[in-house]
Amino acid sequence: MNLKEEILKLKKERNAIILAHYYQPANIQELADVVGDSYYLSEVARDSKENVIVFCGVRFMAESTKILSPKKKVLMPVLDAGCVMADMASEEELIKLKEKYPNASTVCYINSTAKVKSHCDVAVTSSSALNILRNIDNEQIIFLPDKNLGGYISEFFKGKEFILWDGYCKYHNNINKDQILNLKNKHENAKILVHPECKKEVRDIADYVGSTSGIISYATKSENIEFIIATEEGILHELKKRNPDKKFFIPGETICCIDMKKTTLENLYDTLLNMKNEIFVEDDVAKNALRCLENMHCLAKENV
Ligand code: 13P
Ligand code: SF4
Repeated sequence: MNLKEEILKLKKERNAIILAHYYQPANIQELADVVGDSYYLSEVARDSKENVIVFCGVRFMAESTKILSPKKKVLMPVLDAGCVMADMASEEELIKLKEKYPNASTVCYINSTAKVKSHCDVAVTSSSALNILRNIDNEQIIFLPDKNLGGYISEFFKGKEFILWDGYCKYHNNINKDQILNLKNKHENAKILVHPECKKEVRDIADYVGSTSGIISYATKSENIEFIIATEEGILHELKKRNPDKKFFIPGETICCIDMKKTTLENLYDTLLNMKNEIFVEDDVAKNALRCLENMHCLAKENV
């Protein structure tokens, strides 16, 4: 048996499900039971029937899975696969900011630690943020940690005051307007599809701004043949799989989230074989962070 077959056999024996984000390496996406964006994966994490969930992604995603499915064993192939943006917001600083704006609603991007979520009213993902904000009846919003996603959302709610945290994803924030325009010069018919973690100058020249699943769905439905994709390169696997005759161009040489790429077939196999790298979240943190994630699922669906 090869490694892939061994993993599938172990998965069955352990009654496990393997979830993977679109930024995971192609061979991990191919092997996973479910591949998706952060919002969809959080719903699958909440609803799955298996006893064990192996989360191939970064730490905040596996933590959210454990919070939403506390009775399940949640494992991660690499425990130190983190998210640089999530690490930019600390519980202590958030408490101070909330003291300064006691009447504000506190909204966190799902790319945040469980501790930060435990102090927030509701979490959002890039695909659910606009619906959720429409359902928040407060004119003052603290949004963290992503200033770019926060800035993007704020453009839709001119009547609200947004207090934005100074956090960002170093990979998305590094993408520049000139890189996109250079590609556009070479491929003038290409549509520009941008993740909202990108800077305003990049979002402003986009034909479409949305989550990983939004970008995939836009490109798949479009009659266009060429696309400039401003997000992490892992998305190319699903884009090419669904659209073998279309062409996709990434700005710069590459946009690669190192932590997302820490998962390998070897460490996934080792995790399942030894049932190791289990995720735990302290009870009081988990209880409050669950409220924040449940509010996300609830407000995302309300009056849509
Ligand atoms: P999506 O929810 O769009 O998949 O984004 C997750 C993420 O981490 C983007 O950097
Ligand atoms: Fe975090 Fe950026 Fe990696 Fe997404 S791409 S997981 S925001 S570091």
